[in-house]
Order: sequence, then C-alpha cells, then structure tokens
Amino acid sequence: MDSSALDEYFRFLRFPSISTDPERAGDVAACAAWLGGKLTSLGLVTTIHPTPRHPIVVARNEHRPGRRTVMIYGHYDVQPVDPVELWTTPPFEPRVTDGVCFARGAADNKGQIFAHIRGIEETLREKGELPVNLILLIEGEEEIGSANLEDFLATHREELSCDLIAISDTGMIAKGTPTFTYGLRGIGALELRVTGPATDLHSGIYGGAVANPAAAIARIVASLHDEQGRIAVPGFYDEVVPIEAWEREAWARLPFSDADILRVTGSPELFGEAGFTSLERTWARPTAEVNGIGGGFQGVGTKTVLPREAFAKLTFRLVPNQWPDDVMEKVKAHLRAHVPPGVKLEITGGHAGEPYVTDPQSPDGLAAQRALAQAFPGKPVALIREGGSIPIVNTFKRILGVETLLLGLALPDCAAHAPNENFPLENFFGGIRLNRALLDELAAIN
Ligand code: BES
Ligand code: MN
Repeated sequence: MDSSALDEYFRFLRFPSISTDPERAGDVAACAAWLGGKLTSLGLVTTIHPTPRHPIVVARNEHRPGRRTVMIYGHYDVQPVDPVELWTTPPFEPRVTDGVCFARGAADNKGQIFAHIRGIEETLREKGELPVNLILLIEGEEEIGSANLEDFLATHREELSCDLIAISDTGMIAKGTPTFTYGLRGIGALELRVTGPATDLHSGIYGGAVANPAAAIARIVASLHDEQGRIAVPGFYDEVVPIEAWEREAWARLPFSDADILRVTGSPELFGEAGFTSLERTWARPTAEVNGIGGGFQGVGTKTVLPREAFAKLTFRLVPNQWPDDVMEKVKAHLRAHVPPGVKLEITGGHAGEPYVTDPQSPDGLAAQRALAQAFPGKPVALIREGGSIPIVNTFKRILGVETLLLGLALPDCAAHAPNENFPLENFFGGIRLNRALLDELAAIN
C-alpha cells in the first residue's frame, strides 16, 4: 500500500473547506493553495484563479497537437458538518476503521478527485508523460451551486476547450460494482420567510387574534404535495421527459433494492410518488424537499410565545427537460397563492442547476465503461442515473460544447452531507486505477 497517497489524502481532508460558511473562507482558500502546490509539484502548470467567493484551481500538462484533450473536474469544498455531535470522530480528523476512511469530504469529493490526482501522479512518475492533453479544473463552490464557475468558463473558453469531461463525484450502485452514470437531476433552491406581528407575542394575550407565522409556514410547505406524494404546483410536470422502457427494465435488474434503501436510510418505510419504483423516483422524477424549517421557541421546556417569523429552506430536484428558471417561477406563484391570511411571505431565490442526461453508448461512454471494468473487475458495469446534482455539468455542455462522463466511486452508505461521511480505501485505490485506465482508453479513441 502506498502510504504517501494516504498521508496526502488525509492532509487534504484536514482543511475544513466548508464553502457555505463565511467564517471558513480562509480555510477554503488555504485548501485551494495546498491543492495548487500539490499539482505544481507534479509538474503541471497550475493557476489559482480568485473569484468573488472561493478560488478555482486549474492545472494542465503541456498540450500537444494530435492528442485528445480531457478535462477532469472536481471540487475541494465540502458541506457543513452539523449535527456535529452525531459524528463518532471529529469530521476534519480523518480516521480509518476497517479499511474505511471517515471524514467530511472523504467521498464527496476530496477522496474521488484526489484518486484522479494520484493516478496522474503515478502515470507521470512511471512514464514521464500522460497519454492525453489534460486540464484539471477543481472548484470550491460546488456545494453552493457553482455560482462563479459559469462566468469563469465563459471568460476562459479558449484555454478550457476540450474534447470531453470526466468527473468522479457520483456513486457506485453497490460495493465493487463499476458504475457509469448517464444522468443527473437539476436543482432549484428557495428560502421562505413568513412574518407576522412586529415582535414575538404572549400567545395567551394575542393568540387567536393574530395569525401565527409558524403555523402559516407549515400550511405553505404542506401545499407543495398532494396526499399521493405528487407535487401540487400547477404545471410542475409539464416538461418532464418520461422514463424510457429500456431504463425501467434495466433499473429493475440493478443490484439495489428497496430493502437496501431501508437499510441505508434507516427509514421506517419508503414513500414517494405513486406509480414509480424508488430508483425511478430518485433518478428520473422531480421532487420538492424541505431542507430546514423553523421559527419560534427551540429551547428546552415550554414557552408560550407566538413567534414573529418563521422560515423554510426548500430545494427542488429537477429532471430533463425542466429548466430551473421556468419551474421556479411556477413554484413561487404557487407558494404566493397559498399564503394564509394574516401573514406576509418573502421568497428569496437560491442557487440553481440544470438536469443532465447523456448517451451511455457514445464512443467515449463506452471507453469509460471499459476503464471502469478494468479498475473494478469481476462485475458487469451498471448504467445508472443519479438523484444528486452537479450543477455545472449541463453548463459545460452549453458553454464548452462537450459531454461529461460520470464515473462515481462513492457507495450508497457513504453518508455524503451527513454525519460520519466515509470512503473505503479500496475505492480510493480503485479510483487511482480508474484514472489510469480512463486516460489510456480515451487517448486510444481518435
Ligand atoms: N457529489 C454530489 C452530487 C451527487 C451526489 C451526485 C450523489 C450523484 C449522487 C455533489 O457534490 C453535490 O452534493 N451536489 C449538490 C449540489 C447543490 C448543493 C447545488 C447536491 O446535489 O445537493
Ligand atoms: Mn456534495
């Protein structure tokens, strides 16, 4: 086992690069600087581009005519760690238990992007050069919607021009099963704030005469779904592309069942839109989710208060061909139409990302599947879509005009965005093999 690879992976994990937290901006920048140093040490020409928020790291080898140009994208930012008390070890002190590394970012995305970096490092050490013209693009705002990356792509179009993009920031359907992802959901985020009286009130003195913002936001949020789990926003499903017959059949045969979802999630039972399987619900159907809701007294014991305000944080997962701008307008109109009497609703827009789907049987898609099969031998390659979002992927297509190959390494129980996020070292080393096989396979297509 190569211990320098693990030492460096752990070093990378120790940066608390939480992009959403303004207090962590210095840590995010330090992480970018460390990454830049690492890539420079490989002999890659590396630039750390400042943005209005977190820097973008770009590294390239010497590009030569006649070789294909491959961009590998990833992100060095991570999600917040709370509820931190549910971690068994501190989130930024990586620990290995039974061959599995636990830390925030272990899987999403530091472990996966760092496996590619180590693959590149090994190839350069052994062969002196890579089989392709390489562009590594590693950003620090993926977990907050990649707001500054689109402009960056537009202003650096020439130097970022490439034949295709590869990303390892998705999942493997099961341990040891090489997995090619050909679709991602998009996303639209909103924050709701419901206000009522000018100040918190005694609920005995005024309750009954003044509307309660916490009760009101519960009604507004509840208006999003009907009893069958369908989204009740008028026109929400208008542009949704139906699931193809071959997909329904293929997904039903995948090594992942409702029992697995129950086990991994610990939910008492599954629930979702009628008429669809769980994989169909998460991969190819849109959703409305409440990420957080609050207002009023949250302390120990009771307090008879009528809160002056309440909030909710919502995200909507979108599927082809739902475009965030259009769908989110419909959602806002619906929310405004469901404000109960006596309160005011303020809606602020958040980040958005478009859904993506590509052809798994394209020459590059097939090359990627061969590389996956070499890196994770023994099982057939699973073709899947995913419910998560990587907002920049469709933007790559729009601005750079290229398709993206999604070669995920995270497992269903990796606890991404949750306490005790983890990544098996086996997958980290598999990711190194994948990078090497992938660049060879892609180079061979011309
Ligand atoms: N790696 C994930 C995306 C992902 C997760 C794809 C699981 C497929 C399966 C990525 O880092 C992520 O979490 N993206 C965010 C984007 C959002 C904050 C704009 C997401 O999907 O919530
Ligand atoms: Mn993530």
